[in-house]
Amino acid sequence: MRYLIAGWALATAALGADVTFNKDVLPILQKNCQACHRPGEIGPMPLLTYDNARPYAKSIKAAVLTGKMPPWFADPRYGHFSNDRRLSAADIAKLTAWVDAGAPEGDPKDKPAPLAWTEGWSIKPDVVFEMPKPYTVPKNGTIEYTYFVVPSGFTQDTWVTDAEIRPGNRAVVHHVSVYVRPPGSPWMKDAKPGEAYVPPKRGPSGVSAPSARAAEQGVAANEWFVGYVPGITPQRYFAPEMGSAKLIPAGSDLVFEMHYTANGKAAGDDQSKVGFILAKEAPKYRLLTLGVADASFAIPPGDPNYEGHASATFDQPVTVIYLQPHMHMRGKDMEMRFEYPTGESETMLKVPNYSYLWQTIYYEKEPLRVPKNTKVQVTAHWDNSANNPLNPDPTATVRWGDQSWDEMLVPFVGVLVESNADPAKVLRRPGGPAVNAAP
Ligand code: HEC
Repeated sequence: MRYLIAGWALATAALGADVTFNKDVLPILQKNCQACHRPGEIGPMPLLTYDNARPYAKSIKAAVLTGKMPPWFADPRYGHFSNDRRLSAADIAKLTAWVDAGAPEGDPKDKPAPLAWTEGWSIKPDVVFEMPKPYTVPKNGTIEYTYFVVPSGFTQDTWVTDAEIRPGNRAVVHHVSVYVRPPGSPWMKDAKPGEAYVPPKRGPSGVSAPSARAAEQGVAANEWFVGYVPGITPQRYFAPEMGSAKLIPAGSDLVFEMHYTANGKAAGDDQSKVGFILAKEAPKYRLLTLGVADASFAIPPGDPNYEGHASATFDQPVTVIYLQPHMHMRGKDMEMRFEYPTGESETMLKVPNYSYLWQTIYYEKEPLRVPKNTKVQVTAHWDNSANNPLNPDPTATVRWGDQSWDEMLVPFVGVLVESNADPAKVLRRPGGPAVNAAP
């Protein structure tokens, strides 16, 4: 450790001599920070210019040294992800040296041209579905996940090769998931199409959540379809270059799951939309998002480190495209391990500081082919103590439920399967029917 620090000090001292904002810092901010730190985006202050950045020099140094910024939650020892946001050691050294040198501006001639940000769609959608009317997000307070059911009107099975969510008002939209709810699914059955819907709280903790019930009964193949998280534009959700697409079964509804945050400044209207590029022909592979869920837990009051497990086994060979941990406000960490039929095993993803506020999808750098009988093993912990600042009630025994004060243990795995594969037969779950349960 001591050597490391000495080496670090040397490196930054060597750099310190002539590091300037225009030459060294601005290119780093453009590439790694401005997606969020520009007007209208989720970052609390813009970092577009010297005047923007100068007052924050010290907190920039602290944020990059602690790894708080850019936000990224995976343990670097496991997995390789194409959307890894971490700064290189060289960039961290440059930012630090700049701050230590008194944050000099430098020669205007060294300044790179400002980036041009795409304000419209980054895909060219064939069809667009919008929340039917604006929803007003209050100025203050905590806003529960709010749902909008929008009928697709698709009378035949429809294959989608790419999708993009356009948040209506980025100042209040924290993240969005659009799910596909096929006909017959009981999920959100009380929601009126087009109207804002917040599922009712069921008892002390919602064990009877429709999603858990659906999982037990083996019905509903609701599927997480596409998501928006701040700072990721544009993002490929699918892998069309591999001949894959996602399926919206005929007669399905789209369910917008909106996570709004009050920004404390003003109420804001949001009317978000989702656009799809439709496949010209049936694809070779179907991209399927499968939940590896366990709903049997009961987290004791006050427990700072309660452990949960879930597992499921692939009943056919699949190609893994992404991993997506999901828990709620008490979620603390999650690890996903693959156990192969050979007996070997591999940690695919470890998220030591899971944050409910940053729903992150981890895209495999290289799609990974795994054989039939590969088992997905999930270990997670919750912090139900009063020390967890997000914990809404440390005195509660917490069980599975849709609301953020309930909990979940359900990482999603995005896999490619043959396009005619039965989605109910891809994953085998212990003690339960093999349903494609989500969320
Ligand atoms: C994905 C979006 C995103 C990216 C990329 C991002 N930020 Fe942030 N940043 C945020 C948000 C949101 C906050 C406020 C909430 C928080 O602190 O988590 C924030 C807060 C900050 C703060 C205040 C930190 C604090 O300790 O309160 C600093 C400084 C900062 N960012 C610098 C940076 C720098 C420098 C980069 C690039 C190297 C960067 N951010 C990249 C979203 C982002």
